Amino acid sequence: MKVKNDMTADFLRQAYSGESMAHMRYLIWADIAEQEGMPNIARLFRGIAYAEWAHADNHFRVLGEQKGVYTVAAGGVFGVGKTVDNLQGAIDGELHEVQQMYPVYLEAARFQNEKEAERSFRFALEAEKIHAELFKQAQDSARQGKDMELDNLHICSVCGYTGTGEAPDVCPICGAKKEKFKNF
Ligand SMILES: [Fe+2]
Ligand SMILES: [Fe+2]
Repeated sequence: MKVKNDMTADFLRQAYSGESMAHMRYLIWADIAEQEGMPNIARLFRGIAYAEWAHADNHFRVLGEQKGVYTVAAGGVFGVGKTVDNLQGAIDGELHEVQQMYPVYLEAARFQNEKEAERSFRFALEAEKIHAELFKQAQDSARQGKDMELDNLHICSVCGYTGTGEAPDVCPICGAKKEKFKNF
């Protein structure tokens, strides 16, 4: 069994659920940005949706053999609006993860000596910081009624690290090789 303590397992299930909702929500908001004539913001949503998938995938796998049906309480942002409003929802969700959720989950995993959960939470925490910044840039453009400027977007399939331009040879968060990056 990969995770030994109930509290860390609860946090993994909550984080998995939160990331799953973020993944889906960003795909919905991407379609809205596309319809509003903002293809780069749509691409940002789709790329970051992939990063959230990577986080959900990591958390789910760390739960390993903890089988069963669980009702999970997880924070999720709701609301369908204009892209500028949807981006506010995205910023709020990312900042919640960066400032509250993941720092607490990470400390709990450290306290319980859950190495794999600690790794999974740390990857997500570091990637979400970048997401919040990218969504703020997108919102600045959307507020002016413009699409954002956005170079190639590369996402690390191992940890969800998100960058623009040419992908690095080695992921700055997890150390994965360039081949592990997916471009959007
Ligand atoms: Fe994120
Ligand atoms: Fe990575």
